[in-house]
Parts: sequence; structure tokens; C-alpha cells
Amino acid sequence: MPRIDVLTLFPRMLDGFLAESILGKGLQKDLLSVTVHDLRRWTTDKHRTADDRPFGGGAGMVMKPEPVFAAMEELQSEGCRRIYLTPDGAPFTSAVASALSRERHLILLSGHYEGIDQRIRERVIDLELSIGDYVLTNGTLAAAVVIDALCRFIPGVLGEENSLTHESFTGKLLDFPQYTRPAEFRGMSVPQVLLSGNHAEIEKWRAARALEKTRIVRPDLLK
Ligand SMILES: C[S@@+](CC[C@H](N)C(=O)[O-])C[C@H]1O[C@@H](n2cnc3c(N)ncnc32)[C@H](O)[C@@H]1O
Repeated sequence: MPRIDVLTLFPRMLDGFLAESILGKGLQKDLLSVTVHDLRRWTTDKHRTADDRPFGGGAGMVMKPEPVFAAMEELQSEGCRRIYLTPDGAPFTSAVASALSRERHLILLSGHYEGIDQRIRERVIDLELSIGDYVLTNGTLAAAVVIDALCRFIPGVLGEENSLTHESFTGKLLDFPQYTRPAEFRGMSVPQVLLSGNHAEIEKWRAARALEKTRIVRPDLLK
């Protein structure tokens, strides 16, 4: 069972996330474990200080090394992967999610303020990941994104009604359009082919729509 530890200054941000939907069920079934830790637990002063002013001046605050080193030293295990979520990390993709789902133990570190002391990155981080080209106020949601995407690759987490087979990014193409009942809604009809029962034609139609969508929205995926 993959074990995931999350280190954050905002543990309550993940309360609802961990209780709901497919991930919530996966946790209940012990298909993975996620433990969220308040980084301030490893602070030692009475104000529970986790940040300080940057050397060299400049705006904002930087997360201090001591609590993060202490937390890593307590939580890490042989062969675990220690990951820092950061906008200047490598892109987090479906392929990375799939690879991470096969790891035994992950520690996800969420930053805040202006980021974290560089010595943390050099000594106690194995991998740096960005969930996209934008800047969040802190990395807790980024950790949630990583957990949500990787849990889908853990055998048994997706029920029968949910499948990875035709998903965007599973192959080279984005997903095709989906329809459900009613077949007519406010003057809009479901494409006839989907009602035909002809599976070969349906597959052909879906492949063509997926290709069309990918060409328009993400031509880079076709290169
Ligand atoms: C305000 S950001 C720090 C941004 C940093 N000064 C920079 O420009 O790269 C605070 C924290 O949010 C998280 N974060 C923000 N954007 C992110 C992204 N796109 N992917 C992953 N983590 C992100 C990181 O943990 C980061 O330490």
C-alpha cells in the first residue's frame, strides 16, 4: 500500500479533500494511506516560527530549514521519495503520476510565502514538481492535485464505472465528448451514431472527435 505523508502549514485545507469521492473510498479500503502533518509540530520556539526574512533583503518571508529537516528526519524511510511542490519544478504529468503511484512511500512538502530555504531543496528533497505555470499561495492544493492524480493509478481505486482506458493523456489524445440521457435536451440531440448500437462506428466516431479536439486544443500532443 503506498504511504503518503504531506507536510504543510495548512493541514485543515485537506480535510474535505481526503474524505470525499474516489480518494476517500480508496483510503477507507486501505488501498493507500495519506497522513497530513502540521509543519509547526517541528518548530521549537514559543511562537512556532516556521519562516524568516530572506538574507539579501527583498519582499516576503522564506520557510526556515530547521522544522523541515526535523520533519523529514522523523518521517523518511529507506527509499522514500521526498517531493517539493514548486512552480519552478519539473512539470507534473500523467506519466509522473503513474510512476509515483508505484512508489512505496512519498513525502510531499508544501511551501508558503516566498518559498523555502535553498538548503532544504539541496539536502532533503529528491524531486521538485510543478502542477502548472501559475503561482499558488501555498503548495497544499498542489500536493492534493498530485495525490488525486496518482491515486487513480493504484489498482482498485477506480471502480468499474470509472476507467483509465480512454482518458485524456492516457494515450496521445484528449478525451472524446460524452453524452448521457436524455437523448434530446432543449433542442440539442445526442449524435445519432451513439444511439446506433454499432460499436465499430461508435469507436470510429470517438477516435475522430478525440483527434479533432486534440488538434484544436493541444496540437503539441500530436508532435
Ligand atoms: C507564493 S509560492 C512561492 C513562489 C516562488 N517565490 C516562485 O516564484 O517560484 C508559495 C508556495 O506555493 C507552492 N506553489 C505555488 N505555485 C505552485 C505550482 N504551480 N506548483 C506547485 N507548487 C506551487 C510552492 O510550494 C511554493 O513554495
